[in-house]
Amino acid sequence: MSEVGVLVVGVGRAGMVHARNFAAGVPGAHLVGVSDPNEEARQRAADELGCVAFADFETAVLDERVDAVVIASPTFTHASLAIRALEARKSVLSEKPLASSLEEAAAIAAAVNNSGAVFMIGFMRRFDLGFRRAAQLIEAGDIGEPLLVRSTTRGPGLPPSWAWDVERSGGLVAEVNSHDLDTVRWMTGQEYLTVTAVGRAAKRPDLAEQHPGFVDTLVVQCELDGGALAHIDGACPATYAYDARVEVYGSEGVVFAGSPVEGPLLVRKGQAHRDPVPGWAHLFAAAYRNEDAHFAAACRGEAVPIPGITDGIRALEAAVAINRSLREGRTVVVKELR
Ligand SMILES: NC(=O)c1ccc[n+]([C@@H]2O[C@H](COP(=O)([O-])OP(=O)(O)OC[C@H]3O[C@@H](n4cnc5c(N)ncnc54)[C@H](O)[C@@H]3O)[C@@H](O)[C@H]2O)c1
Repeated sequence: MSEVGVLVVGVGRAGMVHARNFAAGVPGAHLVGVSDPNEEARQRAADELGCVAFADFETAVLDERVDAVVIASPTFTHASLAIRALEARKSVLSEKPLASSLEEAAAIAAAVNNSGAVFMIGFMRRFDLGFRRAAQLIEAGDIGEPLLVRSTTRGPGLPPSWAWDVERSGGLVAEVNSHDLDTVRWMTGQEYLTVTAVGRAAKRPDLAEQHPGFVDTLVVQCELDGGALAHIDGACPATYAYDARVEVYGSEGVVFAGSPVEGPLLVRKGQAHRDPVPGWAHLFAAAYRNEDAHFAAACRGEAVPIPGITDGIRALEAAVAINRSLREGRTVVVKELR
């Protein structure tokens, strides 16, 4: 393959990050077009980026200029779009979470196997230099055996309204904490055994009235299969900043990555100041560029497509188990979902 021709499906918040990356120049790839049922969104994106605006996904995915598809549409559309792209033998980078249900996830996995095409899941923290360095230090044995992980994500605002519906989108757990669910597995090399969750609609009880099971504040305790424990928490709208952090405590030391503040520290007249991180697209801009470059390299056979389908499934299993734990008020053994 000379250059990978990319189609971005869904040009909302996440889709525009990927589309702008591919339009600006990802090595070995170029943006062919965008597809979105919202005419205004797709035309605005195509005008800005100088690419084709496909009204119809089926036409777009069969277009011979398209080799690879980036799926950044609402979660409940991921499975049908990914399966259709894989049937057409196109490589797929799907935004997290993998799907709305484990049944959909299994259908995507079957399509990945049948097609032999490249599949990656969009856990871009794996391409962030700080998070990656922490994982490398753990891998090198610098903290000894990982014993306890604390992973936090708080968004300054609420996600789009479609994500408030727990049934269709997985709610806060899948929308905000999917990254933590992946980070814990990635940093420890261990899988989830049990999860025990409590949540509240602390800031937006009105949304819980409209969407049963909606929570905006969440704590999860996890037991992992190698003996480690994990604590995951999530909240939005946090308002103060975008806040993504992980701490891994081991038998020989501890490693920290992430912060809600960035840039230089200013101290004057008895006050200290650093800028808050404004949002995920800002904090992880370089990680998204690295992720898109890695996907392009994988499509060209020059890199391994990791994180892949299994990473997507394992994180989704944990998310489904956490939502069950919230609903039923009990510890859930993750294996009972399989
Ligand atoms: N990696 C991350 O940190 C990150 C951040 C934000 C969102 N996401 C994920 O990206 C996905 C999109 O989230 P968002 O916040 O960008 O949503 P959004 O609502 O901002 O945008 C979604 C876009 O998809 C379009 N769309 C709706 N149905 C479609 C369909 N059937 N086919 C194609 N396009 C369709 C909508 O018109 C809209 O333009 C979600 O799965 C979300 O979890 C990931």
